[in-house]
Amino acid sequence: MCGIVAYIGKKEAYPVLIKGLSRLEYRGYDSAGIALLDGQELNLYKKQGKVANLVAFAEDKNIKGHVGIGHTRWATHGEPNDVNSHPHFSMDKRIAVIHNGIIENYDTIKEELTKRGYVFQSETDTEVLVHLIDDIQKTENCSLVESVRQALQSVVGAYALVVISKDNPNQLIAARKSSPLVVGIGEDNEFFLASDATPIVEYTNQVVYLNDEEIAVVDIHEGLRITNINNQEKTPYIQELELHLEALEKGGYDHFMMKEIFEQPRSIHDCFRGRLNAAEGFVSLGGLKDFENRMLNAKRIVFVACGTSWHACQVGEYLIEDLARINVEVEYASEFRYRNPIIGEGDVVIAVSQSGETADTLAALELAKSRGATIFGICNVVGSSISRITDAGSYTHAGPEIGVASTKAFTAQVTVLTLLALRLASKKDSLSRIRFRTLLSELEAIPEKIKRVLEKDALIKEIASHYKDSSNALYLGRGSSFPVALEGALKLKEISYIHAEGYPAAEMKHGPIALIDAEMPVFVIATKGTSYEKVVSNIQEVKARKGKIVAIVTEGDTQVKAMADHVIEIPDTDEHLVPLLATVPLQLLSYHIAVMRGCNVDQPRNLAKSVTVE
Ligand code: G6P
Repeated sequence: MCGIVAYIGKKEAYPVLIKGLSRLEYRGYDSAGIALLDGQELNLYKKQGKVANLVAFAEDKNIKGHVGIGHTRWATHGEPNDVNSHPHFSMDKRIAVIHNGIIENYDTIKEELTKRGYVFQSETDTEVLVHLIDDIQKTENCSLVESVRQALQSVVGAYALVVISKDNPNQLIAARKSSPLVVGIGEDNEFFLASDATPIVEYTNQVVYLNDEEIAVVDIHEGLRITNINNQEKTPYIQELELHLEALEKGGYDHFMMKEIFEQPRSIHDCFRGRLNAAEGFVSLGGLKDFENRMLNAKRIVFVACGTSWHACQVGEYLIEDLARINVEVEYASEFRYRNPIIGEGDVVIAVSQSGETADTLAALELAKSRGATIFGICNVVGSSISRITDAGSYTHAGPEIGVASTKAFTAQVTVLTLLALRLASKKDSLSRIRFRTLLSELEAIPEKIKRVLEKDALIKEIASHYKDSSNALYLGRGSSFPVALEGALKLKEISYIHAEGYPAAEMKHGPIALIDAEMPVFVIATKGTSYEKVVSNIQEVKARKGKIVAIVTEGDTQVKAMADHVIEIPDTDEHLVPLLATVPLQLLSYHIAVMRGCNVDQPRNLAKSVTVE
């Protein structure tokens, strides 16, 4: 939610900032802006809309400078327009600030500053920061870093920010609390600052992840210095990035989303590599080792997550309860954290998050930790905030996911949760040896089976063409296919703006059936398994009301085929692994429908990939 990038060094800053902003655009694309120091001048350029608008605006401006900051915005306070775009200037245009997060007490600070003669240009919470820093520096006659430190002590809320000043042309000041910030260390005191490592990776693989309430000063002459907001010195912990540049490019696909859908055979394989060996009947999760007993003895496991990750947790609930016989609850992180949950020492709380930065998920974990629960993280982004505050965790290893609609991250999360369920089941001896071995082999075979589903892309595109003009859609599934229905509906609504709802198939008759008519497509997961016959009855109920059925069925199915308007066959697998296969055609259907409707699939309106505000 908002991306920030900054550069100081010998290179021209403008191309570094623009490329960095393009990489961070998945975090928000309501506006983009930059500020650069050119000799004694601090120049600011900002524009509503995507980074491309800023580039077009800047084209004839001959922008120069070796020190600069850049921002791509997801609007919270104040509508998306040029004025509300970041960076924000001090009144004397001496200082500029970029910020990701929310200043919760901005109203009080603004009132105070207004009384002191400050005039605000924008409706943003961020603008109070720059005036506050300016005011402190002038009244206290102190250094820029000291004024930033004092300002941050008055601020309530979340921030990752970078401050640039024409009085300090050799340095940038950055700070974070609850919003991520990475420092990239180049050669000869060259530094990069960014919300994540994607703008940094092509220049250096040496990074430092700032911790909460830390302030970093990067100086052309003096290098990197980190203190906290109480002015205590901190030793920078330099880490080596494992990210590769190719992973951030489209690789010949029209959209990141399509690339990421097609990456799933590999990403799932990467996810279980070294953790699963069907031939030897072995499954383990390294991160779990020291905490396995706590999970096995837990009164219950509580999952906290948001969005697509919450759907993955729902699949996890079916798996862990059925296979390992441990009580599981799945909570929306935003609800969990505000309803005084009964949680304590005997509980294990697992956060599932692609980005590892989602504000509500992070806060839910912190709450659980403060109440004595063991906290565990399942994240995709290495070094993210959630992965750093948890007692232990397992990465999903899906690689960077750039498309705002989550695809390969979801199937990787489900894979880790399947491994977790199987590991716990093996320790609890809750499955027969034969069933356990069968599940391992079936899981190992999933990447090849997904390849077979992907081969049906042309058929799926053809089916999509029949439904591209729909206004509504219903998604139905039972058991662990119910969360798949939820995920299918979410994919369609978020990228094509067609209203869609997911329901447990049997619940259809308690309301949604009233909506069904000849215009209403109903996407049903009707694969072979325990509830197959029940789902067949639900399909008949839809057909009786002239609804259109698109069914995901097991290869060789004849019964549903005879009733449905369209079927997409997926390879046979164990019932517990169906979500890994059945999700893929639903992703492709949404993708093609959205493209046919002319939507921007990688950057759907109003959304952001990483939601670092509540
Ligand atoms: C946003 C994204 C979703 C994602 C959700 C949770 O809404 O657009 O794709 O599922 O946040 O994000 P997380 O990073 O915690 O999985």
